Amino acid sequence: MVAAKETGGNGREIANRLASECSPPPDWEKPEVAGGGFVNYRAMPRAVATALQELRRDPSLGVPKTTNPETIVVDFSSPNIAKSMHVGHIRSTLLGDTLARMLGRLGHRVIRINHLGDWGTQFGKLLLAYRAAGRPPIDPDHAIDQLEEFYKKGHQEAESDPAKMEKARAELAALQSGDPERIRDWKLFCQRSSDHFREIYRQLGVTFDLEKGESAYHEELPALVEELLHSKIASVSQGAVVVANPEISEEPFLIRKSDGAFLYGTTDLAALRSRIRDLKADRIIYVTDGRQQLHFRWLFNTAEKWGQHAELEHVWFGTILGPDRKPLKSRDGTPIKLSELLREAKERASVILREKRPDLSGNQLSEKAELLGIASLKYADQLPGRNLDYVFTWEKLLAFDGNTAPYILNAYVRTRSILRKACLTMTPNHPLMLEEPAEEELARQLLLYGDAVVLAASERKPHHLCGYLYAVAGMYHRFFEACPVLQAPSTALRDSRLTLVGLTGDILRDGLTLLGIRTLEEM
Ligand code: ARG
Repeated sequence: MVAAKETGGNGREIANRLASECSPPPDWEKPEVAGGGFVNYRAMPRAVATALQELRRDPSLGVPKTTNPETIVVDFSSPNIAKSMHVGHIRSTLLGDTLARMLGRLGHRVIRINHLGDWGTQFGKLLLAYRAAGRPPIDPDHAIDQLEEFYKKGHQEAESDPAKMEKARAELAALQSGDPERIRDWKLFCQRSSDHFREIYRQLGVTFDLEKGESAYHEELPALVEELLHSKIASVSQGAVVVANPEISEEPFLIRKSDGAFLYGTTDLAALRSRIRDLKADRIIYVTDGRQQLHFRWLFNTAEKWGQHAELEHVWFGTILGPDRKPLKSRDGTPIKLSELLREAKERASVILREKRPDLSGNQLSEKAELLGIASLKYADQLPGRNLDYVFTWEKLLAFDGNTAPYILNAYVRTRSILRKACLTMTPNHPLMLEEPAEEELARQLLLYGDAVVLAASERKPHHLCGYLYAVAGMYHRFFEACPVLQAPSTALRDSRLTLVGLTGDILRDGLTLLGIRTLEEM
């Protein structure tokens, strides 16, 4: 049809010529011409079998390596010190982790960075209340709750009393100019908060290559702002330093306040430069919620004027909503803490499992419940397109039928149990015979795995991979109903089906791993 347009010829005629002159490879049907110039080639089951046999031999299961490997920084999770991680951080943490896994799998050099918020204005108010209370010890078991209490107190006092606000500012200034006692307190806050974050990352199975907070850049900020002023990228406006980006918004990008304080954006400029200069990043991906879109447009635009060369991407996501379609909150109206959410996921999974497997010991049950609970949460969070807000419901995400982690894990577990019954520990390598429609359908779907990973990675949208795995699980269940494996009519067919079952399991496990989800061998 393209050729017809360009040459003014007839699409149907060109298609007929193509079909008669470009003969299909062996085991492909003769092409058919359809519509105004479509040429359809269709693989026969034998061609599918051959291709799947090749996939079986490929350790990467058909996921290609990029021809253009890059050094990619993924900046994700990045919670703020002295505040608990709340439900809003889960999407950044999971999405960033999955993107890093997928991009690494495609052959990029990925650097995972946790850009901790450890230098913000919250420390003025926090220090104010903490010092007024006589700098008490911080109990490691309740550190975040304690720190949040101090922050709340300091915030309330400062907001209601201008003299206290002045004091909070002075606290912040003292910290930022390096007063040893304040630095000691600040380090303690950071330490205790990191312990809390680390425990959550442990439960989620998320790691970083670099934990480098905002404070790491603070010494560079004065010179950076001077440099931008000097090169006329920034200018002084009402005592503050700003970068005008009229092509984006009337409001400018603020990089130094009139009182001399630096901002979130100033730090981001320094971090960006360091990632390009020191880490040799070709590309930086920032994963945050959609409300920061303007910030990143300002940042990227300023970086470009400043001559910082790298591909810059803001991969943003929508909000998690409660049943009332308002941002998900706990009963008392505060944001739900991530630690609570993880605990509840495990508890609920444990109730469901206890019913299904009354034979499990307490230890086995809690181990499986932890895995299943976290898997369900992770899957449900990555399933909706990332730009959408989604409504969170426990019942839906833990269901064994529907597009859920339990459903897909159940398919995986069934593949493993058949292999076990056949005394196999890994996928055999027998010739494939695709006789029943259900096995042919499954085989064709397995061949699309590489495409699904490439699509999800290149669009930065893990939900494509979820959709793919859900389809595989559904086709596998249908195959399982329609095609006896261990009782297959012939040994050759039994062997072929065992190979197909094994490959299905390999692909389900591989895909779930890319989504950061662990599998289990038995439900
Ligand atoms: N700390 C920020 C927050 O909790 C996210 C930081 C994202 N990364 C960045 N380089 N700005 O919202």
